Amino acid sequence: MTNQDDQFKKVISHAKEYGYVFQSSEIYDGLSAVYDYAQNGAELKKNIRDYWWKAMVQMHDNIVGIDAAIFMHPTTWKASGHVDAFNDPLIDNKDSKKRYRADVLIEDYCAKIEAKIDKEVDKAAKRFGDSFDKAQYLATNTRVVEYQEKINTTLSRMAKSLEKEDLADVKALIEELEIADPLTGSKNWTDVKQFNLMFGTKLGASAENAMDLYLRPETAQGIFVNFLNVQKTGRMKIPFGIAQTGKAFRNEIVARQFIFRMREFEQMEMQFFIKPGTQKEWFEHWKETRMKWHLSLGMGTDNYRFHDHEKLAHYADAATDIEFKFPFGFKELEGIHSRTDFDLKQHEEFSGKKLQYFDHEDNASYTPYVLETSIGLDRMFLAVFSNSLVEEELDNNTTRTVLKLPAVLAPVKAAILPLVKKDGLPEIAKQIVDDLKWDFNVDYDEKDAVGRRYRRQDANGTPFCITVDHDTLEDNTVTIRHRDSMEQERVKIEDLRHIIKQAVDVKTWLMKM
Ligand code: GAP
Repeated sequence: MTNQDDQFKKVISHAKEYGYVFQSSEIYDGLSAVYDYAQNGAELKKNIRDYWWKAMVQMHDNIVGIDAAIFMHPTTWKASGHVDAFNDPLIDNKDSKKRYRADVLIEDYCAKIEAKIDKEVDKAAKRFGDSFDKAQYLATNTRVVEYQEKINTTLSRMAKSLEKEDLADVKALIEELEIADPLTGSKNWTDVKQFNLMFGTKLGASAENAMDLYLRPETAQGIFVNFLNVQKTGRMKIPFGIAQTGKAFRNEIVARQFIFRMREFEQMEMQFFIKPGTQKEWFEHWKETRMKWHLSLGMGTDNYRFHDHEKLAHYADAATDIEFKFPFGFKELEGIHSRTDFDLKQHEEFSGKKLQYFDHEDNASYTPYVLETSIGLDRMFLAVFSNSLVEEELDNNTTRTVLKLPAVLAPVKAAILPLVKKDGLPEIAKQIVDDLKWDFNVDYDEKDAVGRRYRRQDANGTPFCITVDHDTLEDNTVTIRHRDSMEQERVKIEDLRHIIKQAVDVKTWLMKM
């Protein structure tokens, strides 16, 4: 098992042990790639959603939020292209009878080469110490350059074949690279076929009258079909945006890597309606703005990168991914797409209704172009959670497990601990809880020695522990312990609200953008 696998296993078990994520229907042995968010997970997820909503909707005068239904008229998906083109290329292994996404097999092959590059870089960094120049090493080391070329040619050939729908060449590539079934090692593959990812369902009580529906595979279409309603009722002027968060469903062939690729997941999307011809500048604007949002959380600049698409979706004239370094390598976290006027034009054609904007300055009507930012909430959760989980060596030769969640996102902001369960200390601690809970999600914890309680709260991601002791009875002060530095300071009870607010306030964090 590699270090990466090991770290990822720790992430999954920690998420369960500390009440973040459970397998869905676990008592029935679970349901593949479906997960439930537990007591802490639901809070973390809500905080991420709020952080996105505040940055995208509340802080922009020209962006409003909606909450469209999951069920949509079935023609929506004909118009959007999902009925005909929302497919994944799948391949079966004839021996193991296991089904895989052909493109994922090839991407995983490349990820292994990338892991080799990382290893070479680590070795060289150790060898050269402070004088190590990573960029120069990547550009000049023969072995690393060869590895990178192999990745580039492989991915580029795959993208071209997929674009041309040349599925025979995708299979040929898998065979040439000698890619084996990851479970059995067999290289006995079927041809590559396309598989539609939408889940079908029925609306109506009787079989004869039932209407075939789809569970939405993206939230975006709920925004497109409401474009004119929102524009008119909100008197919105271009450029303006419509945002929403909500569930989406995809019958993923290979749903795995925990909550990274799920069959039921949540998206946070924003469609920004612009004048045709301005899409290039808005594309750059939203790339920069979204990257700043990510960086404001302080999870390390080196953990993010852009990946421009070679194969563009049927609706896009430019697209990039913000990739994050997950425990299994760099993978897509968010997509930024210049969607042209494709969607609105399609809905105009299929509905027979005009979806145009009248520009008073130009005294002319046009179909707006659209810039989209689309991030998976569950994927963001995994990015935050996995990046925060660390094992730290302490001075006294012990280790501690600490979940260094950005304080603004942490589910529980402070735990209030009476030093002992007597002498009136629990009563004061409970009073502090009752007072702080109006503003923050706080916890009361009196079980076990205080050191063990600190460790428990560290592992839970709680940024502050507040200890009530015998001095509190004398002077109304408490000890506040900071999770990351483990530093402790003595403060007045009346100052607690201000101290916590400073640390967890969305404004403080978003101002870093
Ligand atoms: N409206 C555009 C759209 O849906 P996408 O790249 O297919 O684009 C956007 O999805 C984001 O949704 C991805 O970057 C990812 O974060 C998230 N996402 C997509 N499929 C997912 C899945 N099966 N499980 C979890 N998140 C997913």
